[in-house]
Amino acid sequence: MSAERERMRELIEQVRFHNYRYYVLADPVVSDREYDLLLRELQAIEAAHPDWVSPDSPTQRAGGQPLEGFAKVRHPRPILSLGNAFDDEEVRAWLERIARLLPEGQTARDLAFAVEPKFDGLTVVLHYEDGLLIRGATRGDGEIGEDITANLRTIPSVPLRIPVTTGSQPPPPRLVVRGEAYFFLDQFQRLNRWLEETGEKTFANPRNAAAGSLRQLDPRITAQRPLSVFCYAIVQVEGAELGTQWEVLNYLRSMGFAVSPEIARLDDIEAVIEYCGTWMSRRDTLNYEVDGIVIKIDDLATQDALGVVGKDPRGAIAFKFPAREATSRLIDVTINVGRTGSLAPTAVLEPVEVGGITVQHATLHNFEDIARKDIRIGDVVRIKRAGDVIPYVIGPIVDLRDGSESEIPVPTTCPSCGEPVAKAEDEVGIYCHNAACPSQLARRVEYWVSRAAMDIVGLGTRIVEQLIDSGLVRDVADLYALTAQDLLPMEGFAEKKARNLVEAIQDSRQRPLGRVLTGLGIQGVGATVAQLLVERYPSLDALSASSGEEIESILGLGPHTAHSIIEWFSADHNRLLLEKLRQAGVRVTAEERAQQPERMTISLTGRAFAITGTLPTLSREEATELIQQHGGRVTGSVSAKTDYLLCGEKAGSKRTKAEQLGIQVIDEAALFDMIKGT
Ligand code: IVH
Repeated sequence: MSAERERMRELIEQVRFHNYRYYVLADPVVSDREYDLLLRELQAIEAAHPDWVSPDSPTQRAGGQPLEGFAKVRHPRPILSLGNAFDDEEVRAWLERIARLLPEGQTARDLAFAVEPKFDGLTVVLHYEDGLLIRGATRGDGEIGEDITANLRTIPSVPLRIPVTTGSQPPPPRLVVRGEAYFFLDQFQRLNRWLEETGEKTFANPRNAAAGSLRQLDPRITAQRPLSVFCYAIVQVEGAELGTQWEVLNYLRSMGFAVSPEIARLDDIEAVIEYCGTWMSRRDTLNYEVDGIVIKIDDLATQDALGVVGKDPRGAIAFKFPAREATSRLIDVTINVGRTGSLAPTAVLEPVEVGGITVQHATLHNFEDIARKDIRIGDVVRIKRAGDVIPYVIGPIVDLRDGSESEIPVPTTCPSCGEPVAKAEDEVGIYCHNAACPSQLARRVEYWVSRAAMDIVGLGTRIVEQLIDSGLVRDVADLYALTAQDLLPMEGFAEKKARNLVEAIQDSRQRPLGRVLTGLGIQGVGATVAQLLVERYPSLDALSASSGEEIESILGLGPHTAHSIIEWFSADHNRLLLEKLRQAGVRVTAEERAQQPERMTISLTGRAFAITGTLPTLSREEATELIQQHGGRVTGSVSAKTDYLLCGEKAGSKRTKAEQLGIQVIDEAALFDMIKGT
């Protein structure tokens, strides 16, 4: 074998190993940069020798050609479902039921259990022959699923070849594995933000995002979606003897599949119940959705002998966590006026427990939503609380109406200041436009002092409201004129507390520009966006002199945000406020950049990039981020101001335009080189 081919094998081995460390064990041993270099070297050899490329090379995940439709796959054995238990008693009852079916001489006490998280995703079935992933399917109806091999190949935690690490026992001639594909919660939120920004439809929850991504006909889109798979069962195996579920899990792990680190083997049912109990709070701390615990009789022969009821095996059961949905009666609707003047309807409910927490208020989003769902006062409504999100009203149960329900009136005046309100153009919200509205002002001041913005400790809602009522504070700049004397007459203020607060307010004048910009509360400009803006504009004056177009070209800032920034800076009362803040000594220009760490020296500084086509390893989002991290910016289209066009496969009209304009066209490797040159 030639030295180059030998090197290619070595690289495949290494890249596969580092993939495994990163995606399966979440414990990488090299930096991203080192990994990238190995991958690129491999890609270079493969590009020079296309006939050497094998389907299990880690470069072959990027996604093949779009499909017309999915072929059908018959599962080698039915892909069963699970019965549910909703509390401890139901778990005990399950065990009692099956104890009666055990062979003579065996009792429930002889049983051991394997317990695993119940991942809230989508079942996938992976077929391996002589170690090679040859097929992957959805569950379908349990008998026949859909062939989604091309999509599953793009998921980094799905091995293309087993065993993944060298030194393990050889692969079985045939292995069919069952697992659950899921989305990480933070990635899910990121995906939705991205879809929203690009005007595409968002997903209702991570499970739908996983399902939608796996059922994509174009695997290149799936490749851009950060999916993962946990494996938990063997559907069929030839060439390995596995007697217990615990052995199955360990065998899967030894082959390089991702197996949850949270599994346990327990000897009695009370320990199982205790384990389930400990999960109630753990559940909220994980970066993926777990909707229960699956309890399985550890001994597989016993599981088999117990048989199936309908589609549920008797030998396993899902202990379901309390639902994050509940029903309650809508007693009233209150309206809160936000800092932007938006009128937010809030449901007042009969107290109800949702997922372990008592809920009395839930958001109704906006009045258009109320009308569309036809929610009325007196209705029995469904409520959902997902993770740490504010509970919201899903909709009414219309069948439970008795005719006494009344419509929720759409407000015509502001509940705080009494001024007329108006519906915003192109938007669902209703707004109070009175710049002096006390409720808006209170929310604006609260936002200004909040942790994400100026971080002034000691100014709670009650004090803010008192300061506004007394006329001492008419905008956030007035805070800086407050003296201890002003505060002393307020409820709960003694000399020391008053002095401390005044000092805290004065100290805040030196906060970094990003915080000041956040505190202004411009629609769409939270802490992250403010940071992006500050990196680009050295002062509030520079930002206010910018154009909407220029602002739009910054990552993550769509036309809405750009427009709202321009509008904010063009309003007279805001210009006055800025002047007042400047006079008060609040920072309006960026701090010195010199203290920034050395590694931030940037090769792409000030360069404008456009991107087209499919890049070999980076998604568009990743490429954009990488460029920005190194000081460049990415625009949506090619113009005379573009410095480089980053071009992948299947480039579109941008490439033609770039060539016409004489703009330099580079590939991903060239981008890495530019960055490396820093
Ligand atoms: S075992 C006979 N284990 O939950 C084996 N299922 O509600 C039956 N699920 O369709 C499945 N995590 O998609 C099993 N650790 C786990 C699971 C799990 C999630 C899903 C699976 C199943 C559904 C049943």
